Amino acid sequence: MAGVEAVKRGLGVPVGSLTQLSTIRLGKRTDGRSPLIKDFVPLAGLNDLVFGGWDIYEDTAYEAAANAKVLDKDLLTQVKDPLSAIRPMKAVFDPEYIRRINGPNVKTEGTKMDKAQMLMDDIEQFRKKHNCARLVMVWCASTEVYHKPAAVHQTLKDFECGLMKNDPEIAPSQIYAYAALKSGVPFANGAPNLTTDTPVLLDLARERNIPICGKDFKTGQTFMKTLIAPGLKARMLGLSGWFSTNILGNRDGEVLEDPGSFKTKEETKLSVLDQILQPKLYPELYKDFYHAVRINYYPPRGDAKEGWDNIDIFGWLGYPMQIKIDFLCRDSILAAPLVLDLVLFMDLAQRTGMRGIQEWLSFYFKAPMTAPGLYPEHDIFIQLMKLKNTLRWMRGEDLITHLGLEYYD
Ligand SMILES: NC(=O)c1ccc[n+]([C@@H]2O[C@H](COP(=O)([O-])OP(=O)(O)OC[C@H]3O[C@@H](n4cnc5c(N)ncnc54)[C@H](O)[C@@H]3O)[C@@H](O)[C@H]2O)c1
Repeated sequence: MAGVEAVKRGLGVPVGSLTQLSTIRLGKRTDGRSPLIKDFVPLAGLNDLVFGGWDIYEDTAYEAAANAKVLDKDLLTQVKDPLSAIRPMKAVFDPEYIRRINGPNVKTEGTKMDKAQMLMDDIEQFRKKHNCARLVMVWCASTEVYHKPAAVHQTLKDFECGLMKNDPEIAPSQIYAYAALKSGVPFANGAPNLTTDTPVLLDLARERNIPICGKDFKTGQTFMKTLIAPGLKARMLGLSGWFSTNILGNRDGEVLEDPGSFKTKEETKLSVLDQILQPKLYPELYKDFYHAVRINYYPPRGDAKEGWDNIDIFGWLGYPMQIKIDFLCRDSILAAPLVLDLVLFMDLAQRTGMRGIQEWLSFYFKAPMTAPGLYPEHDIFIQLMKLKNTLRWMRGEDLITHLGLEYYD
């Protein structure tokens, strides 16, 4: 929110955002047609965006940004007015799902169904107050503890019954997602929680013609992994081990200290390499490689996280080699452009009549949602091609296959 307000005032460049900076090639390489994506598809403009949200703490967006210390004081002061006006609505929270933090700004009365209704009321009031034509909801809240789909997640009847009976298997994120879908609002999941990966919410999104996507923003270490691993595989280089470790000191790091929340994150972080390297197809290269991911909460670093990767690879005749990556990154600086793009693309998807899982937005996620039975595509370059081809398809342009024989005929 702070970043968009800064960009709107010309105080910074939206680096990292495809919707704001990227071009898209149309037609042949010789055609010279490469408009900006935002000029090619009808995206909402930054000046038309209004932000709102829920949090368990009462801090305004300005206070939260000041406490987080991600942006410089000088910059924040210049966007103080719009950020101070954003007060979080009372959250739906359950300490069984997020264990390391707790706060006062929560809805305490009623069943889970009552809380879902309160969220729907919040959405309607927000829509009216700001005269919004359309809305998008993105889960940017903490990582919930690991849960698998349960009986209550099967059908709408089971789920609504569960909401009324306060079924413990229904997570707060699922109550938000249900409220969004019932209100006709596209929902993106930026955290690794189960949330919409359940039959009931997948069906609800399709029935109501609403786009959904997730999960877990691909920003730092996993982003690096999906750059390097496809390259190793493209050259048929082998992998014997990949050890990833992180230190971070923001609130996300604090929540991930809890083993239940870490388990949720570990699942999405670990899934990537197997899918990219396909050990079943390439047993000589990738069978039984060792893969571990660690995250440690280390307060002195705040949001400036450090991710180390030690990669043991092997080449011709099995000779071993090593790659070391030390990514001194900034969690929120990497995540902000993704959230902006997802808001704009999810809104576009809805206006284009797309519904259910938006696989073309896999580019943004560590564990992309896919149709049941379909493996996710993790290679970032394939994801980017899929995203851009979807935009071409939306506008009736030829898809780009990179065959290119026509240049030599
Ligand atoms: N680079 C990144 O920042 C990045 C990358 C991938 C995934 N994620 C995921 O995105 C999420 C947000 O990350 P962050 O760094 O902004 O975390 P954060 O801790 O700074 O912010 C999360 C906020 O959610 C609030 N919250 C928790 N439960 C809530 C609830 N039930 N309702 C409303 N608010 C609630 C917390 O109070 C907190 O203010 C995390 O799940 C994280 O794992 C972040």
